[in-house]
Amino acid sequence: MSLNKSYLDQFIRTTEFAAYGASSFIGKGDKNAADKGAVDKMRNELNKIDMEGTVVIGEGEMDKAPMLFIGEKVGTKKGSQLDIALDPLEGTNFTAKNLPGAFSVLVVAEKGNLLSAPDTYMEKIVIGSNLPDNLLDLDNSVETNINLLSKAKKKPISELNACVLNRPRHKEIIDTLNKLKVKINYITDGDIAGAMSVLGENPKNDIYLGTGGGPEGVITAGALSCFGGQIQGRLVLDKKEITRAKKLGIKDLNKKYNLIDMVKGDVIFCATGVTNGDLVKGILVTEETFEVNTLVLHKSQNIKKIITNTYNR
Ligand code: FBP
Repeated sequence: MSLNKSYLDQFIRTTEFAAYGASSFIGKGDKNAADKGAVDKMRNELNKIDMEGTVVIGEGEMDKAPMLFIGEKVGTKKGSQLDIALDPLEGTNFTAKNLPGAFSVLVVAEKGNLLSAPDTYMEKIVIGSNLPDNLLDLDNSVETNINLLSKAKKKPISELNACVLNRPRHKEIIDTLNKLKVKINYITDGDIAGAMSVLGENPKNDIYLGTGGGPEGVITAGALSCFGGQIQGRLVLDKKEITRAKKLGIKDLNKKYNLIDMVKGDVIFCATGVTNGDLVKGILVTEETFEVNTLVLHKSQNIKKIITNTYNR
């Protein structure tokens, strides 16, 4: 079954208004306020939609997040049963510091078709489309994965580009990539866009690898399922997080999740820019209006486009 086309505009509006909610905090140094600005507006818009929606990836678990927590019911309770993975503001730091790359994003699928991952870290490898299935594996060494990718892409290793989140925990990955002479394009935050940089005809990167947010992994999988492309992820859990993961129904704590384990069936993906970024342009707010740009994907309708809308404030 596919998601009703009439939902598309309503979900676009949701990330558009979340981006607007964050916009008054751009460059104001307060990332939590920016996040709250986005959350409040997103929730308000979600609750206008005729659906029985459940947040499966949200701002955290119920006791930690006042709104849009995992398990929260959204919508008017009339209409389709939908699962929603959302990040009202991806790039809270970018917004607070007025740096490029912040956006509001959500992924929608039919009930039961999205992995409900706890708000923990996830090891990830992401590659683009037209490559052999299950080409890479988290249990391979970085060197083995790079060799496999180089062969499959028929590209010398020294011409491969890798996107890596610049964190001390990635020292080993970075050392290996340096040794192999793979070019690293570092990101300082925002690994949904980082992972999506392997997509398209002339992608900036051949691979994204490293450990980032688990929720961001599932949202990335939503985009990949519309574009083609592969992800493998594995949750990184400390003792407390093991209990939380179990509560969400995760039985195999060491499971390697491929795309199909994170996202099934039809998918709607919307990402609206807050600050300018590689995925979409940022919001433009004037005295009377705001103009927003959204990357819109709808898998069953083969929709991949950027749309621009202007609203009165
Ligand atoms: P927020 O904007 O929600 O703070 O997340 C930004 C982000 O960079 C994600 O894109 C990424 O997955 C995660 O944080 C990485 O976490 P950390 O900063 O702890 O390494």
